[in-house]
Amino acid sequence: MKGLLLSLGLVALFALCAVCAQSDIPVQPDFQDDKIVGKWYSIAMASNSNWFQSKKQYMKMCTTVITPTADGSLEVVSTYPKMDRCDQRTMTYIKTDQPGRFRSKNQRSGGDYDISVVETNYKEYVLMSMRKTKGTNVYTMVTLFGRDKELRTELLDKFRNFSLEQGLGEDNILILPQTDQCMTEA
Ligand SMILES: *[C@@H]1O[C@H](CO)[C@@H](O)[C@H](O)[C@H]1NC(C)=O
Repeated sequence: MKGLLLSLGLVALFALCAVCAQSDIPVQPDFQDDKIVGKWYSIAMASNSNWFQSKKQYMKMCTTVITPTADGSLEVVSTYPKMDRCDQRTMTYIKTDQPGRFRSKNQRSGGDYDISVVETNYKEYVLMSMRKTKGTNVYTMVTLFGRDKELRTELLDKFRNFSLEQGLGEDNILILPQTDQCMTEA
């Protein structure tokens, strides 16, 4: 009996952890995905991934275009300068049962993403959080998008505060330098 209770307790604990991994990240109440579509600029990023740390000093602002797909997911295409040309990266954000939360997979690196639209007013900014799981490693990435290349200081503060709350450090935070490269693509 004692053993059974212990096992049940462990099962409950694991189930709880699977849920809390996502639910400790807030999501925009009443999220409407049809209002988030269109063109955005990446204003700032924060991440503790090795990839980000090694690329950080070269990274620049880029454009991201969000388009709805027929099956209710979102296609997210980012265009960024690479050497002397523009490169594109496409991700499909697959809907989950909870509005504002999506799932995705990186075909190239084989990572799984849990994506949350933390906060948006649709017409000005989106604060987005991505949790990448690859093997036993979990990385956090926070991105601030703007409809314009400049955002109010208050929104940058909000992004910074949220990144720190997610356990990221000041050295994980990058306000992306503006560029004229690849800004008119897509
Ligand atoms: C960010 O955090 C600071 C310090 O806790 C607080 O004073 C400020 O109001 C916060 N700003 C925003 C926009 O949340």
